[in-house]
Amino acid sequence: MENKIIIICKSSTGFTKKYASLISRKTGARLVDFKEASPELMSGCDLVIFGSRAHAGRIDGYKKIREMFHKSTARRFLLFVTGATPAAASGTINEFWAQNLTEEELADIPHFYMPGGLCYEKMSLSDRLMMKVAAKMMKKKKNKTAQDLEFERAISSSYDISDKAYAEPLIAFLSSIRES
Ligand SMILES: Cc1cc2nc3c(=O)[nH]c(=O)nc-3n(C[C@H](O)[C@H](O)[C@H](O)COP(=O)(O)O)c2cc1C
Repeated sequence: MENKIIIICKSSTGFTKKYASLISRKTGARLVDFKEASPELMSGCDLVIFGSRAHAGRIDGYKKIREMFHKSTARRFLLFVTGATPAAASGTINEFWAQNLTEEELADIPHFYMPGGLCYEKMSLSDRLMMKVAAKMMKKKKNKTAQDLEFERAISSSYDISDKAYAEPLIAFLSSIRES
């Protein structure tokens, strides 16, 4: 079956865009910026892929894109999210999904997490301020756990833990539905 697939990407500092571009290159899916998204654009697609970032525990732009998807005639929806959390922190990642998706969505929407990192150089002013507040709160916190100390260290400067290998499970999933 030939599927019409569109990737809608919301990226602020480039990590999500890098993964979205890779997926687009490898699969031939059309890549569109979040600002251009609309129900009309999604209509007629077999699959809408939304790629975004984790932002203060939430998926940036998710609600808006889901509403557009429901108004469209697109058939299926898939989600990938990038974040500063390393892939090994599976407990934190599972908690993140449970906070953002309903039980029904968890079962129905294929969802993938891809580590990105932090890029202070490209961050918006408001995001930099949010990070400053988080750093201040961590500094003041008493009886810090090992996890707190690790978080405090991690957010002190920019880092990149992205790797194209993290996009492979999603690309493999797309191949499997294309073959079916
Ligand atoms: C204000 C702010 C809040 C963030 N919150 C989270 C978070 O809750 N969980 C996480 O894993 N990463 C978090 N991050 C890190 C971003 O999700 C990460 O840098 C992401 O890869 C950025 O994607 P982009 O480069 O496509 O914008 C946060 C970053 C900022 C600036």
